[in-house]
Amino acid sequence: MKTNTEKFGATPHQPSLWTRADALKVRADDPTTTQPLVSADFPVLSDDVFIWDTMPLRDLDGNVTSVDGWSVIFTLTADRHPNDPAYLDEDGNYDILRDWNDRHGRAKMYYWFSRTGKNWEFGGRVMAEGVSPTAREWAGTPILLNDRGEVDLYYTAVTPGATIVKVRGRVVTTEHGVSMVGFEKVKPLFEADGKMYQTEAQNAFWGFRDPWPFRDPNDGKLYMLFEGNVAGERGSHKVGEAEIGDVPPGYEDVGNSRFQTACVGIAVARDADGDDWEMLPPLLTAVGVNDQTERPHFVFQDGKYYLFTISHTFTYADGVTGPDGVYGFVADSLFGPYVPLNGSGLVLGNPSSQPFQTYSHYVMPNGLVTSFIDSVPTDETGTQVRVGGTEAPTVGMKIKGQQTFVVAEYDYGYIPPMLDVTLK
Ligand code: FRU
Repeated sequence: MKTNTEKFGATPHQPSLWTRADALKVRADDPTTTQPLVSADFPVLSDDVFIWDTMPLRDLDGNVTSVDGWSVIFTLTADRHPNDPAYLDEDGNYDILRDWNDRHGRAKMYYWFSRTGKNWEFGGRVMAEGVSPTAREWAGTPILLNDRGEVDLYYTAVTPGATIVKVRGRVVTTEHGVSMVGFEKVKPLFEADGKMYQTEAQNAFWGFRDPWPFRDPNDGKLYMLFEGNVAGERGSHKVGEAEIGDVPPGYEDVGNSRFQTACVGIAVARDADGDDWEMLPPLLTAVGVNDQTERPHFVFQDGKYYLFTISHTFTYADGVTGPDGVYGFVADSLFGPYVPLNGSGLVLGNPSSQPFQTYSHYVMPNGLVTSFIDSVPTDETGTQVRVGGTEAPTVGMKIKGQQTFVVAEYDYGYIPPMLDVTLK
């Protein structure tokens, strides 16, 4: 397996590298990059369903958008099974942790609406059963296209395979609420190619998902970010000098870090509607550092490209580590070079006393960061936890040059609109 320079040499851009040296700078519990403690007495959005990845309705420029005064979010959602014998433990009690951990296999897209940007009301499923071609409806992005209420929902159709797809529908409002109509025809867009992006055949643990389409503020073209792994057979990747970076003596040993091969992918649309896409080499690779750079997204601010992506402690490579949370990189132009924010890349991590309190952070252009509650310890040792499956308190963050600072905390699931569209 080749290094980035060998592999992507003849392409329009060189992927930027998140190096092992960068990751060595990660400091858990730095208060400026740590999410405030989430209390175990949080409210839940619903007793019937778990929600996790939250996708606010937005326009192609990234602005969170309400329609006729209604805020709308899409969420990955799965039923809770408190009365299902399959989820009772030996003592006959509901094993919520197991139910929660099984959720990915039955993830479906749901939507919620609100007049206040919080206290979300249940909307329902976006697509009827049988519309989506695979078992799992995984993360993506709902885009409000125009003032007729047309919405393109980009998402990932998973198991079998992993295909980036889109489905068009319409948001309809009344004074009492919001409904989603249409969303009946799912169009496959593309899959991993095995040349730039790793396929399932190359690695059974491959990642290829989480589309985030956007209009480039500079060239006006339609692009899409997504999560991938760098192509090549599992175990064949090289962690060379470039991937290691400038490390102190004693830090040259990379262990088994060749198994961690995350990247942030990018594709460009060949048409204005976003029905025809061409994959380009990744914007950023993390070979030898981390195996997952999930839900990549941008904030365009001060003429710069702020690239954010979520990652886990358990997906870090040998010899490097960091908290579950959102990481970020900044560049002066779309294709980089990207440098890690705060030196290390860490932007907002969980405190080490509550390592799984939140996940799937989404940084909005107004500096607000939404995420979901995963599990919060309820005893001193952290062995007892309360499972979330609900919205976490929103965090306010300032982005300044190559640094970020936590500056505020808001209500649970607070996702205020940045603009309102009156439907015709
Ligand atoms: C992030 C994530 C996404 C994926 C979904 C699956 O929490 O892992 O990358 O689309 O959850 O449930």
